[in-house]
Amino acid sequence: MNTFSVKELLSPDHLHQEVVVNGWVKTYRSNRFIALNDGSTINNIQCVVDFEEFDENLLKQINTGAALKISGTLVESQGKGQSVEIQVKEIMVHGGADPEAYPIQPKKHSLEFLREKAHLRVRTNTFAAIMRVRSALSFAVHQYFQKNGFFYVHTPIITGSDAEGAGEMFRVSTLDNKKPPLTEDGEIDYKEDFFGKETNLTVSGQLEAETYAMGLGKVYTFGPTFRAENSNTSRHLAEFWMIEPEVAFNDLDANMDLAEDFIKEVINYALENCMEDLQFLEQRLLDEEKSKPQAERSEMPLIEKLKFVSDNTFKRVTYTEAIDILRNSKPNKKKQFKYLIDEWGADLQSEHERFLVEKHFKCPVILFDYPAKIKAFYMRLNEDGKTVRAMDILFPGIGEIVGGSQREERLDILLEKIKALGIDEKELWWYLDLRKFGTAVHSGFGLGFERLVLFATGMGNIRDVIPFPRTPQNAEF
Ligand code: 4AD
Ligand code: MG
Repeated sequence: MNTFSVKELLSPDHLHQEVVVNGWVKTYRSNRFIALNDGSTINNIQCVVDFEEFDENLLKQINTGAALKISGTLVESQGKGQSVEIQVKEIMVHGGADPEAYPIQPKKHSLEFLREKAHLRVRTNTFAAIMRVRSALSFAVHQYFQKNGFFYVHTPIITGSDAEGAGEMFRVSTLDNKKPPLTEDGEIDYKEDFFGKETNLTVSGQLEAETYAMGLGKVYTFGPTFRAENSNTSRHLAEFWMIEPEVAFNDLDANMDLAEDFIKEVINYALENCMEDLQFLEQRLLDEEKSKPQAERSEMPLIEKLKFVSDNTFKRVTYTEAIDILRNSKPNKKKQFKYLIDEWGADLQSEHERFLVEKHFKCPVILFDYPAKIKAFYMRLNEDGKTVRAMDILFPGIGEIVGGSQREERLDILLEKIKALGIDEKELWWYLDLRKFGTAVHSGFGLGFERLVLFATGMGNIRDVIPFPRTPQNAEF
């Protein structure tokens, strides 16, 4: 007898065959119907048990969460809701799940409750669907770049540089647990460095990716990134995955084209390959929204929103144009923003970003040519001497999903910038070498993978789209 996944059994290929399937019990009703799921698909296989044929003690172990091996015949189902079912001949219990103790019962659990159960939440339909979509999107990311001639570069996790210059780094030390270095007061000295050097967990692989782009031409990274920002928002994690392509000879316009094309293609991949999960997630959202007032409900159902983004051109506007729009807008009844944009040069707050995307343009927006003062040191200075070739992509419901730029390739201007910001030139000697030997126009961007998964699944909190979220309150598991 062959072993199949639930997904395989639900396709019509195995009808009337003797089959074996392993999985976890979702529900067991009327002492007769087991809904079994193995994670391969959102749908369960119904297994029909003739309880008189089985030992009572065995049947008692069939509770939600128990792991079973079931053998039987795959037949057409007479019941509603499924096309096939297994007429069970044998049941083997891999492991039971005490209904008094097992927390994932067949009822609606809140997302907050499930965050406390991060090791078990993937057994719910919602999290299984999210994580399958996440996996598909990761594959789509690699496929997009590999298909388009990019090389995958593994940039270091432990690094001496602070790419973003924001000082939001986790320090790495060679702390010896047996003989911890102690301060004068006998406390553990957490300031001990990495074999004598000051290092931290990477905040971005960009600077290292730039070095590879200047030899391999088109590269990308896709790896974990760390930010020690103590922001408790639904959009920030202390550990997140970032995708960073970097391309030699690309200017900012080519960079925008790449980012837009890339995002559309990975979203299309999800639409083509994850439809059942997306339909489930869309229905979940619609059910949730029924309890909300009309004004707070989203204007478009999830799948329509994904199609809208993949079919429509992103609106490209300069920072200066955006400031003018914001100044002349009346965002609410009080006719003002909480944070006023009085002065050219101020950073946009999320309420401004949301207004531009959700109310004004009603589509994804690429904002570019930001004031140099609010952006990182490596961005290319424009002829006006005050703006840089930076771009942010803003998405409905998400805000910033991409941050990128054309890089400053001119040694003298880069040196001036570094000096003005008080950055130690010696620390960036290798980065400056790129501008001394065969420098060229180049650009790239970073896309926060979890923000993409948030958008694609319609979820509202970034903690729910990564298996084990790292936030200021949560580093368990
Ligand atoms: O805008 P950021 O900081 O840009 C960079 O790190 C550049 N070095 C990227 C590059 O040009 N290669 O971060 C890029 C993206 C943001 O737009 C956002 O999507 C995501 O990374 N991001 C976060 N996602 C989750 N949690 C956080 N704390 C994040 N910080 C940034
Ligand atoms: Mg940014």
